[in-house]
Amino acid sequence: MSRRLFIKILLSLGLGAYFPKLAEAARYENLHEPQDGYKPLRQVKFLRQIVTKDSRTARVIMWQSDEELNGVQIEYQLIGDGANFCAATFEIFQQDDATIYIYTCTLENLKPESLYRFRIIAENSATSWQNLRTAGYGNFQMLIFSDSQCVNYDVWQKVADTAAKKYPDAELFTVIGDLVDNGQAAYQWRAWYLAAAFVLSERIFAPVMGNHECYNLDWLNYLPVDYLHQFNLPSNGVKNFGGYFYSFDYGAAHFFVLNTQFLELDMFTKNLQDEQNYWLRRDAANTNRRWKIVLMHKDIYDYTADNFNDIAEIFMPLFDELEIDVVFTGHLHTYRNRGKIFQQKKSARGTLYILCGRSGDQKYVERNSQIDDVTAPNLNTEPESYITLDVSAESLALTCQTVDGEILDKFKLMRNA
Ligand SMILES: [Fe+2]
Repeated sequence: MSRRLFIKILLSLGLGAYFPKLAEAARYENLHEPQDGYKPLRQVKFLRQIVTKDSRTARVIMWQSDEELNGVQIEYQLIGDGANFCAATFEIFQQDDATIYIYTCTLENLKPESLYRFRIIAENSATSWQNLRTAGYGNFQMLIFSDSQCVNYDVWQKVADTAAKKYPDAELFTVIGDLVDNGQAAYQWRAWYLAAAFVLSERIFAPVMGNHECYNLDWLNYLPVDYLHQFNLPSNGVKNFGGYFYSFDYGAAHFFVLNTQFLELDMFTKNLQDEQNYWLRRDAANTNRRWKIVLMHKDIYDYTADNFNDIAEIFMPLFDELEIDVVFTGHLHTYRNRGKIFQQKKSARGTLYILCGRSGDQKYVERNSQIDDVTAPNLNTEPESYITLDVSAESLALTCQTVDGEILDKFKLMRNA
């Protein structure tokens, strides 16, 4: 019996949790099959392509290893063109019970709307070739997940794998916060990455920080240390708040990734709200992309009080002022489409507010409300879901579907409609 078949049988019997190294090897089977006479660079794991300010011309590639690698670089090339090399930088990070080596390469001066391939090389070992697509100027498809936090990350894996297989052309994806249940727990991140290995493999990831990234192992409020080290995000130019919030361009859209963790972070970091608001106004003034889209973790509504909450008070007047087209939130683990809202009232003009359902296994039940145009049919048994967003210069089209393919909502926003 081959090693590969043996691993598959073990995993099909549900024994992955007892053989974590084998489960890891199985998820990275394709990554560890190099060409051109190289040996497999099996130490490389959790490979991710991170969004940059302009994904037409730059890409951050990150990965991890449990040991230091020598002479690490990325070889990359436009398909059919000559080889380029980028030396990796690394940091040693103490993550909970584990010492990990986090590697980063920033590829720059890429050609827009092009297909590249890259591989990681360390002396005479290498990974397999991976695809890298640079962004274009107009149409693209994106996958939106939220609250992937789990007790059993097989649930997140099923959602992520299903979406990635069904939408192979989706160029980037986000998780709208609460990626993991405990943001400082190494085993949580390991499980999250393994589950996300397929969706991460050839797409750009634009993470959003949630409150669960801001807890320590005793479940007390804590700085999001692990999140900040693991994702080398576009600079916002704001002292002391690098990685807390950021923006990026993609196709016809400008995305603002905002931080809603005032409750968790105020005791450690003063002025988050003021600094972010100032930055947001300045950043919005400097974009000329057709669509302005906000991604932020905490939602604007309190379903128990059936009213707008403190997050709404902070952000909604700003979104009115800046003419934000769509806001995607999470945190409440239920899908709701509120339609357009202006000055906290349902309106023909204004911002579309979409509350994303969960992609993990933590079920919450919120009440029905008049604020919502669309809710899942049965709130007590609302399954895991995700959103596809198709962006063009003329329209934003979103579809929310359950992991089993049942459509919960379809909505199209036309430019100047
Ligand atoms: Fe949350």
